Amino acid sequence: MRQLLFFSNNKNKIIEIKKIFKKFNLELLSLNDLNISNEPEEIGETFEENAKIKSDYGFNKTGIPCFADDSGICIESLNWKPGILSKRFLNNFKSKEACFESIIKSTEKKSKQNAYFKTSISLTIKNNQNVIFNGKIDGKISEKVRGRFGFGYDPIFIPKNYIKTLAELSTKEKNEISHRSIAVTKLINFLIN
Ligand code: IMP
Repeated sequence: MRQLLFFSNNKNKIIEIKKIFKKFNLELLSLNDLNISNEPEEIGETFEENAKIKSDYGFNKTGIPCFADDSGICIESLNWKPGILSKRFLNNFKSKEACFESIIKSTEKKSKQNAYFKTSISLTIKNNQNVIFNGKIDGKISEKVRGRFGFGYDPIFIPKNYIKTLAELSTKEKNEISHRSIAVTKLINFLIN
């Protein structure tokens, strides 16, 4: 069976991705399985660059084809930031609620509601040879914080053509439309073909 390394230490993501890959004749390994604890600095300026830094690092350490992802939210009223700094931006507030309140206020003040989530997956197959798969979901910032499912910015993001926030959708419903699942589907189609 062919091996493939998923460069992540995020338990939830690993469970989700392992489930998706079960159907395929591939042995999916994670960093934990290989006792890799070091991660490279994410010094890229785009989702694509950061995903590539991680997948190249994983391939160079193990010799096993490796993929990595990088995601975040881009908000119009914040000049399409925080983007690649999404995790840090949220953690810099004293609470999630304070962060959401600040985003909702700036959205109202500037009358700019648009936002999107993006995921870039980089797959490194050989030395210096990688392929990028992108997934994007368009939407807007909600007027109120709503919902208890999901994680991160889900409670303030309403996908285009929806009324509910991502945090009001079940995991299954979210996975049908999310930026991450779009990018993962592209990766799988590439691997199958
Ligand atoms: P990561 O690169 O997938 O770890 O995502 C970085 C950060 O972006 C996360 O810590 C979240 O704050 C935010 N983020 C990424 N994807 C999602 C999502 O599907 N929902 C909500 N927030 C997300």
